[in-house]
Amino acid sequence: MSESSLVDPFGRRIDYLRISVTDRCDFRCTYCMDEDVTFMPKEHILSLEEIVTTARTFIKMGTKRIRITGGEPLVRKNILWALEQIANTPGLEELTITTNGSMLKKLGQSLYDVGVSRLNVSLDTLIEEEFNRLTRRNKFKQVVEGIESIAALPFNRCKINSVIMKNQNDDQILPLAKFALAHNMDISYIEEMPLGAITAHDRAESYMSSDDVIELLSNHYQLSKSSATTPGPTQYYKVEGEQGRIGVISPHSHNFCSSCNRIRMTVEGRLLLCLGNEHSLDLKPYIRATNQDKLTLEDAIIKALALKPEQHYFNLDEEPQILRFMSATGG
Ligand code: 5AD
Ligand code: SF4
Repeated sequence: MSESSLVDPFGRRIDYLRISVTDRCDFRCTYCMDEDVTFMPKEHILSLEEIVTTARTFIKMGTKRIRITGGEPLVRKNILWALEQIANTPGLEELTITTNGSMLKKLGQSLYDVGVSRLNVSLDTLIEEEFNRLTRRNKFKQVVEGIESIAALPFNRCKINSVIMKNQNDDQILPLAKFALAHNMDISYIEEMPLGAITAHDRAESYMSSDDVIELLSNHYQLSKSSATTPGPTQYYKVEGEQGRIGVISPHSHNFCSSCNRIRMTVEGRLLLCLGNEHSLDLKPYIRATNQDKLTLEDAIIKALALKPEQHYFNLDEEPQILRFMSATGG
């Protein structure tokens, strides 16, 4: 199989795969899910062996980087085993994970040992009561200590991800930057996306654009837009005198679709071609080889790439068009 097989109809080389290994989470972030969310029945989800086999098929076809997400990926039993199998697959250049940080103090060293090279940790506030309100759980100290513990390990540069919502945590933009930079970590500020219907707040009212975030931070730091094209949707800024960078992810205000190099697989084995569109293909019958027409998993993946849409459209004034939650999709 030649590496050029992973190219979509718009000429984008799709060498980045995000795999959600569980939709479950030990948090209930208000922008992500409601308290009484229903998780997928266990029998619908792929086994870790199936996830590893699928990851290896993608790597064989030219996938260079894989990010493991959830829900919270570290709540999945035996996840370290799967991470090690994927990290050891020849051809893969980078294995990363996105986590809420609640288990990092315990697992940070093991993640490094099995071959994870970078981590993204979500943190939206440094005020404990606000953290408890936003996550609906009381694990603030655990998360902060977890971040501090990975900052001391020899990972490649790790990153804090913060979803910024007006009148909720916009007072935390500067404190979060100080916290990340003090630990030589990058930080990305994310515009909230209308994924799944939530009841905690009105997303149109809490919308805060990345431009406002950068304007605020420019009063405190000397920022210069980084021309380095990173493989993700983040626009980075170098910070004078600091190792860490400041970044923004702007699905609303700055569409980044033209350089999109990524696809996502849900824990049910559904390949999503775009976060903001429903275009997808169920790979499970191919992974389980119960398909009737004897298409192989590789054929199915190529067929799926042809479905990748050119771009997404989010409109905060309408009901969410995308009914899956980020926790089912993988961030
Ligand atoms: N919009 C933007 N970001 C979200 N995340 C979860 N739900 C949303 C949403 N609706 C973030 C998490 C985490 C990353 C995986 O995605 O905070 O940082
Ligand atoms: Fe869990 Fe992440 Fe969703 Fe928060 S945003 S509830 S940590 S999956």
